[in-house]
Amino acid sequence: MKITENIHYVGVNDRRSALFERLWPLPYGVTYNSYLIDDEKSVLFDTVESTFFPRLLKNITEVLGNRQLNYLVINHMEPDHSESIALLRRYYPQMTIVGNKKTLEMIQGYYSVCDNTLCVADGEELPLGRHTLSFHLTPMVHWPETMMSYEKSSHTLFSGDAFGCFGALNGAIIDKDMETALYMQEMVRYYACIVGKYGQPVQKALQKLKPLTIERLCPTHGPVWEQQIGEVLAEYNRMSLYQAERGVVIAYGSMYGHTEEMAEAVAAELAAQGIKKIVLHNLSQSDSSFVLADLFRYRALIVGCPTYNGGLFPPMEQLLSKIASRNVTGRLLGCFGSFTWAGAINKEMTAWSEKLKFECVNPPIENKQGVTADTLAACRALGKAMADKLKEA
Ligand code: FEO
Repeated sequence: MKITENIHYVGVNDRRSALFERLWPLPYGVTYNSYLIDDEKSVLFDTVESTFFPRLLKNITEVLGNRQLNYLVINHMEPDHSESIALLRRYYPQMTIVGNKKTLEMIQGYYSVCDNTLCVADGEELPLGRHTLSFHLTPMVHWPETMMSYEKSSHTLFSGDAFGCFGALNGAIIDKDMETALYMQEMVRYYACIVGKYGQPVQKALQKLKPLTIERLCPTHGPVWEQQIGEVLAEYNRMSLYQAERGVVIAYGSMYGHTEEMAEAVAAELAAQGIKKIVLHNLSQSDSSFVLADLFRYRALIVGCPTYNGGLFPPMEQLLSKIASRNVTGRLLGCFGSFTWAGAINKEMTAWSEKLKFECVNPPIENKQGVTADTLAACRALGKAMADKLKEA
């Protein structure tokens, strides 16, 4: 499929995998995007998971026929994009693999391929004929070797994972030809799960890209962005600065409904105080990726769960661990929970809140057995305190 006269989309849709990185649910599928520039020298940007290699090869040969592929540029080495390198080499033995020093080391490490490679440095250029590429190292967006490739005549940036999202493509490739609301939503979830830890490197990359005129963003997942480049860059800037809007995500675990009753009391008071964006996630139902996405949207996090084996209810422990490893800053935190004979919420939640470095608006509320009137009053007080804090900002 043509993106411009000479730039072709040759990527694939994956509607088979249940989990991305065998971790993150894919309710709408995902794409592994590959792009081909057909010039005097042809160049392919990134490959696909090896299961989809036959489809990639078919897409390439539809453009090239029996002509050689001259270059393969590897912007990112995570196997969802690199897994077909060795296979492609068998079909195009003369193809030169282009990457930076770290990329080429990884290609050797993963695939034992080390011949016919071209090592490029930051800012280096590669002429193709009418098109010229320049390479821009953007480490840790999402791995240490990640780089972006810019095509100067068409102002096209091949950006790797950056600006990508979950969601298979349903016919159209370019944003202007489709409804993009779901992809924008899935971009936040993708960012929160995959790139969220690396806010500072993303900021560095965004600064580095500023001098480039960009008319087209070609990421390795999701649509090509032409019409909504401004919106996509602004969203990346916001997320990498950990900025969030006035809203609350309440994540709770509840075995028999007592902690859930507390969560609903907190939510009702937040709503009564005029907070309009409130999302509740029952951790036995909601996957943590959706909670993380909401954490990257909203300024306040309120967590509650029962005591379990003297610690936190396991889905809560897992969620807090995922949050802690994402370096999220500038959030407000509220905590509550329940127990039957020995409460662990106060101790455990206090320890987590110190680790997360969020601003706590209350000492953790602990309810013993059936939910008492005092507990419900404390939950309403938490809702009010959180609403007041949000209004201050
Ligand atoms: Fe889509 Fe970091 O790989």
